[in-house]
Amino acid sequence: MERKKFPELIASVRLELRKHVPELAETMYSYVDQDRTRLRVFLPWVDKTLSTADEVAYIKLAHATWDKGTFFDYGIFERETGTYMGNVGVHNIAWHHDRCEFGYWILSRFEGKGFISEAVGALEKASAGLGFHRMEIRCSSNNPRSAAVPRRLGYSLDGRLREDTVEQGSYSDTLVFAKLNGQR
Ligand SMILES: CC(C)(COP(=O)(O)OP(=O)(O)OC[C@H]1O[C@@H](n2cnc3c(N)ncnc32)[C@H](O)[C@@H]1OP(=O)(O)O)[C@@H](O)C(=O)NCCC(=O)NCCS
Repeated sequence: MERKKFPELIASVRLELRKHVPELAETMYSYVDQDRTRLRVFLPWVDKTLSTADEVAYIKLAHATWDKGTFFDYGIFERETGTYMGNVGVHNIAWHHDRCEFGYWILSRFEGKGFISEAVGALEKASAGLGFHRMEIRCSSNNPRSAAVPRRLGYSLDGRLREDTVEQGSYSDTLVFAKLNGQR
């Protein structure tokens, strides 16, 4: 399909997904910094995020990729309180193949409440609405909490890419989950 834009605001029952604004940089950095030990295990960018200025640069980059249609990243906010909790985004977009991938992280104190499953579900609905046919979630085989998200949302495990990633200095496998629009 032709390149399209995702909406800047997506609402679900408990959440709002909002396109990043520069004002979020300080809070985003404080979240990454306070949860660094946990987040760095599966998110390689964490070790390169060392100041609020790095988050400002990240948000600028996210705006540029939004305009280009290559990456759409959102902050996850609780609707009732307006609390920012983490990020969810659409990346590895292959417009000519109607395919995209979702990525996510949430601060540990908001984990275990179904917010990520809800956020991904909302993004999935928006993606299907734009015409995406195949939606993927990839994660390390060492990350059962992440793998539980696509499982909970009814994705199929399409395969396991053996030792395709260096994770904390060792090779690890990547699990590829996918859902086809209107099917599993
Ligand atoms: C991976 C990660 C985003 C998963 O977050 P999460 O909060 O476990 O995911 P969900 O939103 O799907 O929440 C599911 C949990 O909420 C519970 N839950 C509570 N209310 C719920 C609801 N209304 N709907 C669904 N689940 C609900 C589920 O029972 C489940 O609990 P359990 O883990 O005790 O079984 C999080 O662990 C994280 O940020 N990890 C570090 C970064 C990372 O690894 N990112 C992914 C890289 S591929």
